[in-house]
Amino acid sequence: MNVTTVIDGIYRLSANMEEILFEGLWPVPNGVAMNSYIVKGEKTAIVDGVCGWDGVPETLFAQLEKINVDPESIDYVIVNHMEPDHSGWIEDFRKIRPDFTIVTSKKAVPLMEAYFDITDDIMVVGDGDTLDLGDGRVLAFAEIPNVHWPETIATFDTKSGTLMPCDAFGSFGSIGEAMYDDELTPEQIDFYEQEAIRYYSNIVAAFSVPTAKAISKASTLPIKIIAPGHGIVWRKDPMKIVNDYIRYASYQKGPCENEVTVIWGSMYGMTEQGVRPAIDALESEGIIVHEHRVPEDSWGDILTSAWSSTGLVLGMPTYEYKMFPPMLNILEELARKRFLNRKVFRFGSYSWSGGAQKDLDEMVARLKPGWEFLEPVEFKGKPSQEELDTIAARCKELAVQIKEAVASKGK
Ligand SMILES: Cc1cc2nc3c(=O)[nH]c(=O)nc-3n(C[C@H](O)[C@H](O)[C@H](O)COP(=O)(O)O)c2cc1C
Ligand SMILES: [Fe+2]
Ligand SMILES: [Fe+2]
Repeated sequence: MNVTTVIDGIYRLSANMEEILFEGLWPVPNGVAMNSYIVKGEKTAIVDGVCGWDGVPETLFAQLEKINVDPESIDYVIVNHMEPDHSGWIEDFRKIRPDFTIVTSKKAVPLMEAYFDITDDIMVVGDGDTLDLGDGRVLAFAEIPNVHWPETIATFDTKSGTLMPCDAFGSFGSIGEAMYDDELTPEQIDFYEQEAIRYYSNIVAAFSVPTAKAISKASTLPIKIIAPGHGIVWRKDPMKIVNDYIRYASYQKGPCENEVTVIWGSMYGMTEQGVRPAIDALESEGIIVHEHRVPEDSWGDILTSAWSSTGLVLGMPTYEYKMFPPMLNILEELARKRFLNRKVFRFGSYSWSGGAQKDLDEMVARLKPGWEFLEPVEFKGKPSQEELDTIAARCKELAVQIKEAVASKGK
C-alpha cells in the first residue's frame, strides 16, 4: 500500500492485488489496483476502502502518518459501493476508530447490517445531497444504481472537481511508480486501455445500460479529475476514460469494431483444420482477429476480445449429442453478460448424429442475445477441401457484413 497526493487535500491510498481470481472468478494476469481516497477539509473523510490490505490498522497508520492525518480524526467513512472489495475493510477500520459515521446510500443500509452488523451512525445520502467537510470542501453525492450493484453512489468533491465513482471508469492492471495519467507514457496509457476493456468486459458488461446512464449524469458535473476505485487516476485528460467508457458501453449492442473473435475447441484436430482457413479469410478482408482455444484460454481473455468484436467465429465439434462443453460454457457466459447482436458463423465436426448445432440454436433461443448467424458448415470426420473453401467463403462474407455494419454505425 502507498499513499500519494491526487490534488491539494485529496490523497489516494492504493494497493495492488496479484495472483488472485477477481470476484473469485476472473484471472487478472496483470493484477488489479484497489484505491481509497482521503479527503481533508476541517473534517476528514475516507472514501471507500481497499480489500487485501495487510496489517490494517498498522499499515494504514504508517501511510496516514506520511500525510499527517491522525487516524482518529477520520470522521466519515463514505461507502460508495457495498461490494466487499471496497467495503470489506470496515471491520479493520473499526479497530482504529469505532465511532465513525458511515455515509452511504439508502439501499446500502440493509447490506451494511447483513455484512457488518452495523445499524447505527449511518448518514443516508442520495442525489443532490452534500456533506460539508469545512474549509470550502463540500462533497456532493449522485446515485449511480447498478454500476455495479443497486446501491452504488458516486462522490464528487466540488472544491477540486474530483469525481470518485468507485467501479465506474475503473480498469484492471497493477500500478507502479506512475499512477496518474499525467505521469504515464503513451505505451502505458495503451496498456491501461487494454486493462480497462478487460475490466469492463469481465465486470461491468452486463450493466452497460445503467453505466451509460451514469456517464450522462456525470457529464453534467464540472469534472476535472476522475479517481476510480480501481486502476489509474485521470488528472490530465479525464475525458479520455469517459469517452472510452461511452465506447465500451456502446459495444453491448454492437456493431463494435472491425474485429472478430475466433473461439475454437477440438478433441482430435478435425474441427481445428478449419481454423486457419477461417482466420486467413478474415484477415485477407482486413479484419482484426483474436483467436482463442477452449478450454485452454481463460474466460477473462475471451470476453475481453469478444467485447470489441462485431463478429464471432465458432469452431466446435459435437460432444455427446451437444455442444463441446467448454464452448457451451463460454457462449452462455457471453449471452448472459449481454454481448448482444454479434454476427456469428460456426463450423465443426461430428461423427454419427451431430447435435452441437441444435444445442447452440436452443441456447440462443433461450437466452436471446440477438446473434445473427450465417449458415453453418458441419462435416463428418475431417473436412474436405470443398468444406474448407466454404468455411473461408463464409468468413469472407462475415467480414464484408461486419465492415458494412461498422461503417454505418451512428448513421
Ligand atoms: C466423448 C465424445 C463424444 C462424442 N459425441 C458425439 C455425438 O454425440 N454425436 C456425433 O455425431 N459425434 C460425436 N462425437 C464424435 C466427434 O464429434 C467427432 O470425433 C469429431 O470428428 C471430433 O472433432 P474434433 O477432432 O474437432 O474434436 C463424440 C466424440 C467424443 C470423443
Ligand atoms: Fe463492484
Ligand atoms: Fe470494485
